[in-house]
Amino acid sequence: MGLTRIPGLLFGGDYNPEQWPEEVWREDVRLMAEAGVNLVTVAVFSWSRLEPAPGVYEFGWLDRVLDLLHANGVAVDLATATATPPPWLVREHPEIQPVDAAGTRLEFGSRQGYCPSSPVFRAATVRLARAMAERYREHPALAMWHVSNEYADHTAECFCAESARDFRRWLQARHRSLDGLNAAWGTSCWGQHYTDWTQVEPPRKAPGPVNPAQLLDWRRFSSDALLACFEAERAVLKEVTPDVPVTTNFMSVLRDLDYWKWAECEDVVTDDAYPDPADPRAAVKAALSYDLMRSLKRQPWLLLESAPSAVSWRPVNVPKDPGVMRLHSLQALAHGSDGVMFFQWRQAKYGPEKFHSAMLPHGGTATRRWRETLALGADVRRLAEVAGATTRAEVALLLDWESWWGLEAPESMPSDRLRLHELLLSWYAPLHARGVAVDLAPPGRDLSGYRLVIAPNLYLCTAEHAAALAAFEGRLVVGPFSGVVDAADQVHDGGAPGPLRDLLGVRVEEWRPLPDGVTQELVTTDGTRLLARTWTEWLDAEETEGTDVLARYRGGPLHGRPAVTRRGAATYLSCLPEDPAPLLDDLLTAAGVTGVAGAGLPADVEACRRGRYLFLLNHGAGPATVTLPEPGTDLLTGRALPAGPVTLGPRDAVVLKPRPTTP
Ligand code: GAL
Repeated sequence: MGLTRIPGLLFGGDYNPEQWPEEVWREDVRLMAEAGVNLVTVAVFSWSRLEPAPGVYEFGWLDRVLDLLHANGVAVDLATATATPPPWLVREHPEIQPVDAAGTRLEFGSRQGYCPSSPVFRAATVRLARAMAERYREHPALAMWHVSNEYADHTAECFCAESARDFRRWLQARHRSLDGLNAAWGTSCWGQHYTDWTQVEPPRKAPGPVNPAQLLDWRRFSSDALLACFEAERAVLKEVTPDVPVTTNFMSVLRDLDYWKWAECEDVVTDDAYPDPADPRAAVKAALSYDLMRSLKRQPWLLLESAPSAVSWRPVNVPKDPGVMRLHSLQALAHGSDGVMFFQWRQAKYGPEKFHSAMLPHGGTATRRWRETLALGADVRRLAEVAGATTRAEVALLLDWESWWGLEAPESMPSDRLRLHELLLSWYAPLHARGVAVDLAPPGRDLSGYRLVIAPNLYLCTAEHAAALAAFEGRLVVGPFSGVVDAADQVHDGGAPGPLRDLLGVRVEEWRPLPDGVTQELVTTDGTRLLARTWTEWLDAEETEGTDVLARYRGGPLHGRPAVTRRGAATYLSCLPEDPAPLLDDLLTAAGVTGVAGAGLPADVEACRRGRYLFLLNHGAGPATVTLPEPGTDLLTGRALPAGPVTLGPRDAVVLKPRPTTP
């Protein structure tokens, strides 16, 4: 059983029939059949067309759309249509419009104009979700529920009075008493001691830096407030249609929402991914986000939105060269997606996204874009058997949203250059280049089964996190500025690495962030020179028995001091090496981890195993030769390939199904 009842891989996109006359719908379904589309997302922004007045529903057009799609073999990921409240609701209840940190109430005329804490808004969404569920519970096209859309895209937080009330309720549940809040927020600093709950407000724009503990709780609250919106709709859907999977589309590596927590409330993880074709790191960033999606529920997920070519929301929207849409789609499949879906099916004629690419462009079917859509549909069908295959990773990268929020608090850190996404990428990129499969994991999770666990940063580290890491039996690496604060953003007694001190056998005396452009040399015990940028630390290691120094700083005030240490199987890095490859190679060897394609993968080639299938993707603009570790059949071409060298054309790929070994 896949993510839905549809066999094989899913292929399709967002479909907005309300933007087109009905005769166009008939052409749409004909062309969908031609392209092999088997799933479309419908009604994402349709609230104002489905409920034009309070409690007055106009489902007729949607009935006809769903019937037509079903009659043509296309299933529906049906949105609850709650992503944008209609004008009548906003005009009747202007208080549901979100307010920004400076106190400005945002106007109607775009989308996602709602305050997540508004009881009026939440009640209206639940009413509509119920009406949708009751209307379509038996409809044969219904394959999945799509709640709202990209929570936190435009509205990640709201600073209105209603949000303030909700924030206080949330704080009361967390801290119990005002004394508890004052203690956790450290309000003795800068004279912020509260004597009544009504004095507590969201961290609005203030004269100077805002209390970072307040900000951390605010980020937790804001993620939870949106999650409560999702859960309210989900509860209704589950009540009326218990067997239909429920999802909401995630936004790749997004700071605002704690996706570990969110994924627990979803049946299927779905993601919207828009790697920028102009970004040389697009492929590696996409791979990281896909591995995160696969790791969230440790099961296949679905790429629910991607761009066939250019988007319309960057300052400069670069299109995808021939072959790139296919390659990016295959990459998502390689990393565990059970389908390829786009925004959107038919290119819009009006509105802010009229220049956003689509599967069927303004120019119609006599276009490269359409030919690529047809060809991709055929490729997706050839790969049908990959659906449901799972990935086994021996390496895990730790990611904790609370730590991320704490680390990126503005105006109060030793350096604002430590950005978690970049820290993750600094480890992920060399692993990816070596064809090593990587899971993401939260720090408190049972890590058994992995051989190597890397925590690029654990700024916020609790005793539970430390216990989980201490219980882990494989190789562990902890990056700098870790074990600094507790769950209330208060510095651990005795300083960093706090609860990790015994495990790592080090003590940090001083943070020494580096100004931009400045480097610090370090030398490993076998004489390898590395350069650190951005961050170094004054570390004490020798005082702890059993801690070995693997590298020392050379030159400058840190000359001779430990830079990289190891105690037992745990390595600590007090800096950010420009290229961690030499350290990583030693760690991989010690952990007994090898990349799928072995050493010597050409620079632009990505190698990724999913179940027994080996995906080889050439992201380069020139040909590349790869050594196949085993013979098999390329599912994309049907060619039998022997073990040994195979040449991939520019932006081409091989999906090798290994030949079963004869006993
Ligand atoms: C997503 C959104 C879609 C569409 C798309 C364009 O963020 O969910 O509705 O706007 O971006 O790239």
